[in-house]
Amino acid sequence: MTELSSNGVVAYDVADGIAWVKYNRPEKRNAQSPTLNRDMMEVIDALEYRDDVGVLVLTGEGEAFCAGMDLKEYFRDTEAQGLGGTRRAQREAYGWWRRLRWYQKPTIAMVNGWCFGGAYGPLFSCDLAFAAEEAQFGLSEINWGILPGGGATKVAVELMPFRKAMYHAMMGENIDGKTAAEWGLVNEAHPLTALKERVTAVAKALLKKNPVALKATKDAVRRVSILPYDEAEDYLIRAQEAANSYDNEGRKEGIRQFIDEKSYKPGLGVYDK
Ligand code: ACO
Repeated sequence: MTELSSNGVVAYDVADGIAWVKYNRPEKRNAQSPTLNRDMMEVIDALEYRDDVGVLVLTGEGEAFCAGMDLKEYFRDTEAQGLGGTRRAQREAYGWWRRLRWYQKPTIAMVNGWCFGGAYGPLFSCDLAFAAEEAQFGLSEINWGILPGGGATKVAVELMPFRKAMYHAMMGENIDGKTAAEWGLVNEAHPLTALKERVTAVAKALLKKNPVALKATKDAVRRVSILPYDEAEDYLIRAQEAANSYDNEGRKEGIRQFIDEKSYKPGLGVYDK
């Protein structure tokens, strides 16, 4: 059963372990308004630790995945409120993208159509991305007179080779889903009619894997990409060991002896193992 966020601009349903989260402003090509950004945070927050959710898929209702930031509501209206308004709107947008980047469950972007500028943030936040061959991707910022901000330039250089990223950012030309896959913006492109089937198959494969290992793996891939080799090696050893002891009961016993049993004080000594 499809449910709606507080303001109705995000729709979601959960079936067979997969949360299908949809931008739901098709009449505005799913542009990210402050209201939409707040609703997205509300929805992903509500879904993150649900036992019946093993994978989250982000997609769009109608013709667009997401036409970037809402040029009226996100830029013009908030600028009219002064710097505080702009900063608040940025916090709300970047906040849910960041939350999604480090989400507990694996995430997949299913890019069904238009994908512009500010949509690159959530696109990158998702661990995997699959596009319709018919989808159109663009850093259109240059076409209306700004640089690709809000992380978009960073996403471009993270995902694409330097020359591709530079061309993409400077020219403001769109590329289709197939080219986006060739350039590294998404994992694969499929005809729109086959897209959901492929994403469902990937999600089902992820559902069969150890969820603690999956979270450790996705975080590791993001973290080590910016670390020198030795630090990466060290991080990975520690992350592996942390994942091994995920169900460590010791700290619970430490809290129990202090709060319930009152047998020691952590500020003054150590709990009884
Ligand atoms: N911000 C605000 N409103 C938007 C946005 C947006 N990013 N995108 C679409 N809309 C609105 C349109 O103004 C229009 O509203 P209206 O019906 O009240 O007139 C409605 O959505 C439908 O849009 P159309 O342009 O009529 O749809 P069409 O299918 O012909 O074109 C397209 C789709 C190509 C996506 C076009 O809407 C467009 O160019 N949108 C802007 C894309 C963009 O450059 N986004 C900003 C990227 S930069 C950044 O995010 C920082």
